[in-house]
Amino acid sequence: MSDELSQRDTIDLAGCELRTARGSELRRARDFARAVVDRALRARGIEPWYGAPGGRDWERESALQAFLQAQPGARFVVCERAGELIAVARTTRFETMDEALEVVVAPEYSHRGLGRALLAELWSGTPTPDLGRLAVVPGTTADLNLYLPFGVMPVAGRWHLRIPVALYRERRAAEVVDEDPAPVHVLETGTALETWAELEEGVLGYARPWLHEWFARDRVALGVVAGGGTPDAVCWVSAEGDVGPAVARRPEDLVPVVLAALDRVASACEAPELAIQCTTPAWWLLRRLRLLGFRLHWPSWILSSVPCPALDRYLPVQPPALL
Ligand SMILES: CC(C)(COP(=O)(O)OP(=O)(O)OC[C@H]1O[C@@H](n2cnc3c(N)ncnc32)[C@H](O)[C@@H]1OP(=O)(O)O)[C@@H](O)C(=O)NCCC(=O)NCCS
Repeated sequence: MSDELSQRDTIDLAGCELRTARGSELRRARDFARAVVDRALRARGIEPWYGAPGGRDWERESALQAFLQAQPGARFVVCERAGELIAVARTTRFETMDEALEVVVAPEYSHRGLGRALLAELWSGTPTPDLGRLAVVPGTTADLNLYLPFGVMPVAGRWHLRIPVALYRERRAAEVVDEDPAPVHVLETGTALETWAELEEGVLGYARPWLHEWFARDRVALGVVAGGGTPDAVCWVSAEGDVGPAVARRPEDLVPVVLAALDRVASACEAPELAIQCTTPAWWLLRRLRLLGFRLHWPSWILSSVPCPALDRYLPVQPPALL
């Protein structure tokens, strides 16, 4: 081991307190993480975006964040120096998957072993068949180098795409589409939950029933209903303009349900832009979004300890709190 590495491995954390945080500290942690990430993004020429068009108030954002943090197995740690927050890290847990929600270190303290110390606190040992690990991280070398030693590998990209609402409306009105559009309807909550229960594990490799029960209280489910039985696709859409997550039986089935959700938001929304998270294997959807004029603003990587079976049939969560 080089001298430099041995010094960094024994970093002096004197004066720093690393501790488990309370749910009531979520807002403070969010404000800290947002300030650090905003700075990093602007330094790279990227305008930050955290969800609903026109901004998102803490009351609405906190409901999902608090719910994720309240799950059995979820962890939330902070590091302080002289009462000042210098790093935060959070995870939540689905049945067989631990998902990192964020690991953020103040730039004044970066590259001194703090990010690794926090992640080691949440992800000790190695992932197992019973409990895997997953994270969606920005495409910077710092983030990727930090996470890879914890037993996760890149499985795909998650792209943050945006379009001005006026351009979306204009392009949609002018689109010439050959095939008959698949019928999309608002689904009963029970049907939406059944569809997720049937399709999600085959797409992600694990199921998130409690997450969809939360979305069912907050959002409307649109579904592609082509024949009898459960729908071929389902997409959650909120009154604030959040589109996703969505899942489909075949990659092409994702397109009509996501476009119907975007149409719904575009027809009601006063904000200047529509935003969506899209996995890079979802080619059918990516191609259509690209032709409509969506542009890439923020590329991230999906890192996982096990392959996700079929991300070509999945649209990630918006706001981007999770895969
Ligand atoms: C990513 C982040 C959490 C790393 O935290 P950190 O405390 O600086 O990381 P550590 O010092 O513990 O380093 C751990 C490993 O991460 C990698 N790393 C950290 N900083 C790095 C850098 N600037 N460049 C390349 N690799 C880096 C290294 O592999 C390092 O281990 P090694 O030096 O032994 O190889 C921190 O930089 C951060 O919060 N960044 C802001 C996140 C953000 O803004 N994201 C959006 C940007 S677009």
